[in-house]
Amino acid sequence: MTKSGDKLVSRDGHSLPLARRKAVLGADALEITPVPPVTGAYSYDPGYASTASCTSRITFVDGEGGVLLYRGYAADDLARHSNFAEVSWLLLNGELPSHTELQSFSEELAGLRHCAPEVLDTIAAVPAGAHPMSTMTAALSAMPAVYPECTDPDDADHRRRFSHRVIANIATVAAAAYRKTIGKPAIAPRKDLGYAANLLYMMFGEEPNPVASRALDTLLVLHADHEQNCSTSTVRIAGSSGVNPFSALAAGCIALWGPAHGGANEAVIQMLEEIGATENIGEYVARAKDPGDSFRLMGFGHRVYKNFDPRATIICGICHEVLQELKTGRGRLFTLARQLEEIALSDSYFKDRRLYPNVDFYSGIIYRALGLPATMFTPMFAVGRTVGWAAHWCEMHTDPEARIGRPRQLYLGPTARSYLPVGER
Ligand code: SDX
Repeated sequence: MTKSGDKLVSRDGHSLPLARRKAVLGADALEITPVPPVTGAYSYDPGYASTASCTSRITFVDGEGGVLLYRGYAADDLARHSNFAEVSWLLLNGELPSHTELQSFSEELAGLRHCAPEVLDTIAAVPAGAHPMSTMTAALSAMPAVYPECTDPDDADHRRRFSHRVIANIATVAAAAYRKTIGKPAIAPRKDLGYAANLLYMMFGEEPNPVASRALDTLLVLHADHEQNCSTSTVRIAGSSGVNPFSALAAGCIALWGPAHGGANEAVIQMLEEIGATENIGEYVARAKDPGDSFRLMGFGHRVYKNFDPRATIICGICHEVLQELKTGRGRLFTLARQLEEIALSDSYFKDRRLYPNVDFYSGIIYRALGLPATMFTPMFAVGRTVGWAAHWCEMHTDPEARIGRPRQLYLGPTARSYLPVGER
């Protein structure tokens, strides 16, 4: 197809003009709505690797260039110089806040940190030993019942209240889920601490080290959004049915939990612990390359980044600072991770497939250094990504082109056949 006129040849040989929707950045999109009626064929795109499911103005990812923009601002710039509250405002509203806007937004979020008692009761009712991601999902599922003023997708005030409430509450929920795993009661949030500092305080019950708070804030910024990834697409497709936003986010939370997606940060640490020493790296790299072995190098590869993941680069840099400052002695895993990266990236298997460390490869090193168990890594990812999920859910409900998500299929099952009762078959 040429840029001058995108055409598709139909069954009878006639050409069908396809409207090309111009992108501001990155790839354009071809409208294929008229294709099936004319060609009798659907586009087949497992995993939607080549499908634009919507228009969006929130985040742009250039996989070739290793670029990540939040509303046009480079995420690595924001990670270095901004903070999670300011980035949350940016992602929700499209522009950076004024000083007054940021101050009142931060104060509003701080005032919304307490969860309704019923949400805390839900967390307490989740079976002991449950993974914190299932506890967070249960808490989100309880929210529409206690925050009815935040549930109507068609009401702008509901959408704004929902976004602020869920960003404020999700940190409290994550901290309570952590405390539950160690058999300790939840710690009430404080209004006088910043977002990340308060999250650490609610988990550990002490004034957090400023380096730890800054490191966590940076991680939250870097995890805040990533265009139409698996969990965000899940939020959109669940939300497209008109369900309340808390339940749509519960669906996204569950999608994030998978080891191929946000659960990879937990899997990376488990993998590094299993590798244990430099001399074992070769064996694991060989397993990752073996088509007969289901083992994959966790934290490596990405559907979109076929070059470095800019987030991994920053997070790797923070590891040095945090390990230095917190003297937690967990440098062993970081050293092992660096060696693994070096060996893998010199191997043609990884180079040919353009598999590089992604956002999950180093983040667990920092979470560990902050004192978190591996089961809390994905919940931290979910805390950051909640603002992206909320921003996309709101964007979808203000998009005149948005429709209920309902893909088709390539049917390979049996042709029509008549039923006969068992005695007659
Ligand atoms: C996140 O989409 C997002 O934006 C996600 C995310 C976000 O911010 O929301 O960035 C967060 O989910 C990061 C990804 C975290 N997951 C992991 O680290 C798990 C390990 N990586 C993968 O399983 C895999 O790389 C994916 C899932 C991330 C991407 O899978 P794709 O794009 O479907 O790639 P693929 O499975 O088609 O693999 C292509 C080839 C295959 O080999 P061949 O069949 O061509 O011989 O690369 C191989 C794969 O076997 N391959 C790997 C590998 N990842 C891909 N081989 C070994 N180890 C790996 N990690």
